Amino acid sequence: MKDDDCTPFLQEVLPCLQLRWHGFRNVRRQVCKRVQRRIALLGLGDVQAYRAWLDTHPDEWRVLDACCQITISRFYRDRRVFQCLETDVIRHIVQRIQRDGEQTLTVWSAGCGAGEEPYTLALLWAFSLAPMFPGIKFNILASDANADVIHRMREACYSGTSLKDLPDRWREAAFSRNENRFCLREPYRKNIEIRHQDIRRGVPNGPFYLLLCRNLVFTYFDEKLQCETGRHLSNRVREGGSLVIGGHEQLPDCIAGFEPWDGCRSIYRKTG
Ligand SMILES: C[S@@+](CC[C@H](N)C(=O)[O-])C[C@H]1O[C@@H](n2cnc3c(N)ncnc32)[C@H](O)[C@@H]1O
Repeated sequence: MKDDDCTPFLQEVLPCLQLRWHGFRNVRRQVCKRVQRRIALLGLGDVQAYRAWLDTHPDEWRVLDACCQITISRFYRDRRVFQCLETDVIRHIVQRIQRDGEQTLTVWSAGCGAGEEPYTLALLWAFSLAPMFPGIKFNILASDANADVIHRMREACYSGTSLKDLPDRWREAAFSRNENRFCLREPYRKNIEIRHQDIRRGVPNGPFYLLLCRNLVFTYFDEKLQCETGRHLSNRVREGGSLVIGGHEQLPDCIAGFEPWDGCRSIYRKTG
């Protein structure tokens, strides 16, 4: 579909889904391609016909909503964030867990993509931190609304480009090569629960010491939905725990009870 057709279409329909055009500007092509395929499948002539179809077929909005799930991700995305988690944030949290006489560091990766983010955390823990804290268990809940990425996460096989930012040592030790794909070895997939869940409809009970919600709520949702969803997220973070958002995102003022983690952009500490 030509950009001249797709852009005005998205500018009109995204607010109806409580999504915001600003977030989609640079990644709209992924959505446009899906909408184009949908138009062809329905046998409609063009995007104007599809717009009219939406008016007469209310269920179609759910299909369009699914077309708008941007699924771009990669391992070790935003290296500064993972370095801060490794050298500072997670160590502090574990010290607190030990002080409180607990044993499990609970983590939630919300909008986890095809596993790149939660598996990066699992590798970080296994290679760098687990040897320092042998008595601590590291449990990750990884959730996403998109059935396709959930399926890919369960397979855990990736192209070389999605692994290119990972430290070499981790990549070489943790993946086995299967033709052009790199599959995560079983030991690094333990202690990760995978859940198919739309963050707008429900959130896990938690609570979590570490919650990553990057490049989803605070990029694509409109202001009202950011606040509604953001409050649900913030309730699931334990006091002293941490919330991590995307590198280009801002925590809206309506989300109270967090302060920036010193020296770590995009990372917040829950103050109470
Ligand atoms: C751009 S990716 C970000 C993946 C990863 N967090 C990262 O930063 O690399 C956004 C992910 O959020 C998922 N997603 C979109 N809408 C969602 C929703 N309402 N609830 C849960 N996940 C959603 C998409 O399927 C996609 O996997």
